[in-house]
Amino acid sequence: EDPALLHEEVHDPRRRDFINIAAVSFAGVGAIAIVLPLVNQMNPSADVLAQASTEIDISKIAPGQAIKSSFRKQPLFVRNLTPAEIAAADAVSLNELRDPQSLEERTKAGKKNWLITLGVCTHLGCVPLGAGEGENKGPFGGYFCPCHGSAYDTAGRIRQGPAPTNLHVPEYTFNSDTVVTVG
Ligand code: FES
Repeated sequence: EDPALLHEEVHDPRRRDFINIAAVSFAGVGAIAIVLPLVNQMNPSADVLAQASTEIDISKIAPGQAIKSSFRKQPLFVRNLTPAEIAAADAVSLNELRDPQSLEERTKAGKKNWLITLGVCTHLGCVPLGAGEGENKGPFGGYFCPCHGSAYDTAGRIRQGPAPTNLHVPEYTFNSDTVVTVG
């Protein structure tokens, strides 16, 4: 066999172009396959938004405890603040806050102990810790996001780290002393 011919075959520019195009197309399809589900997750369909509200039994949540639930496919934290946690939140001057809101504004009148927020860090969407038994509540006693260290206080307000805003408070109403409807 002529070695020059073999050399020519491997380095045939058309053949190399084909291989390159094939590799790029394959990578492109892979990227779309990865990105599409993420885009879908970030844009909840009208179906999800129109979903029925969530009813939560709050009768078993003791002061100082929180539970994780879910609302429209997102984590939801329901927390029964102790008098000390309420006092800690009220003691903070609004001027010190990145996203100034009082605990009063973030809860229902007369039920300042019930803090109901989405369990979604406002930085890049991780689920903060602090709603489970023994979880790290962070330096401000509320919630702590392990992804990049955002720390929220007992009113769910951002106090440290990269998150730009407080944990989101969804619409909710108390049906009774033991049941709250979110949404
Ligand atoms: Fe929570 Fe970045 S996602 S700090």
